[in-house]
Amino acid sequence: MAKLRGSIKISGDKSISHRALILSAMAVGKSKIYNLLESEDILCTANILKNLGIKILKKDKYWVVLGNGTGGFIDPIEALYCGNSGTTARLMIGAVSSNSINCTFTGDKSLSKRTMSRVTHLIEKMGATVRLTKNDYLPAFISGSDSLLPLEHLMKKPSAQVKSALMLASLNIHGKTTILEKINTRDHTERLMKYLKINFSIKKQPRGISRIELFGPYEFHAKNIFVASDPSSAAFFIVGALILPGSKITLRNILLNKTRTAYLDILKKMGGKIKIKKTKTKCGEDIGDINVQYSNLKGIEIKSSLAPQLIDEYPILSIAAACAKGKTTMLGLEELRHKESDRIESIIYNLKKIGCNIFSKNNSIIIFGSKLKLNKKIRIKTFNDHRIAMSFLILGLIFKDNFKLDNEDCISTSYPDFKLHLNKMLVKDA
Ligand code: S3P
Repeated sequence: MAKLRGSIKISGDKSISHRALILSAMAVGKSKIYNLLESEDILCTANILKNLGIKILKKDKYWVVLGNGTGGFIDPIEALYCGNSGTTARLMIGAVSSNSINCTFTGDKSLSKRTMSRVTHLIEKMGATVRLTKNDYLPAFISGSDSLLPLEHLMKKPSAQVKSALMLASLNIHGKTTILEKINTRDHTERLMKYLKINFSIKKQPRGISRIELFGPYEFHAKNIFVASDPSSAAFFIVGALILPGSKITLRNILLNKTRTAYLDILKKMGGKIKIKKTKTKCGEDIGDINVQYSNLKGIEIKSSLAPQLIDEYPILSIAAACAKGKTTMLGLEELRHKESDRIESIIYNLKKIGCNIFSKNNSIIIFGSKLKLNKKIRIKTFNDHRIAMSFLILGLIFKDNFKLDNEDCISTSYPDFKLHLNKMLVKDA
């Protein structure tokens, strides 16, 4: 069987790359962004910012953004195309809402089926004008205003995208905007805003509620930003090394933000031999190296309270569970239905095809792992979902030529170099 060996440099983190571009565009002056992820999703964010009057240049070793300040967007001449990227759409809808401009957001087929009202109903409450297709979808027309109301928002569902949309809007709102987050989600916007010396507060309240208070309008100065390597992209190789006998890999400079690395704790609990070493802190984020070797994995129960911290890793965790001994239960996955595909369906459809004992009940997935065998050729349906494609390419390493994907192009939305990096570490059996 093939195995993974050695080391590669994983591409920049997707969530931070979006935020680095957007916050640099809203700063005053010139930022250089190092290790920016150059994937389709990120290029959509960059193009939208260019359409909003921001100068962005790609240099050899970094990207340059010339920020126009928090109220600095101009009316775009074209529709703002978000491609496949929910983060682009939701963050940028928030960012433009407190500028006095009119714009139309569009997206590809998959994004046009994903809900936008979770962001737009909040900006409407503050005074922006919104027209959504069928009351929930792109194309969406947004008429922003520089006199939005400073309000208190209680986040009903955990979502880093919605929280970040509100935080970005609040940068050009006069007065105190408050966001109450009951269940913590990824906090890159907060960390980058602190690094940029934007003066706002986060207080912990009883029952774990975070109270974020912002006092706009802000003027802040551009700073250079380094983007650490994406832990969600690293997850594919980490699981690959865990399930392929003889594997041993080291991944360096990986973002170790706690809201993103819960999957490493899960894999360790499953018996994964994983060593993590923090090496530095840059731009408010912890960064370090991860060593992984082949391990005998066992099934476990994954609680629903962990869902917001594991949201992008369930596809690859389900591959680990399919190769583990015993039963894995993943609880509380409702939100997976609203990603690039309905990921509960995509995972189950494909794992069933390879003979895995898997089913879903009340938005949970139950997998009985085993030694997988495949005696016939099968075709994996990616549903044009990059994380499904990468997860099954990893599983496919066990089955060699019996395994094909219907479409690998979707991988470039988040990780264009995935196959190049995989091939660098792949040692094929003789
Ligand atoms: C993201 C937040 C998550 C995640 C997405 C990226 C972000 O979505 O699934 O891939 O960068 O803010 P939620 O809005 O559901 O937290």
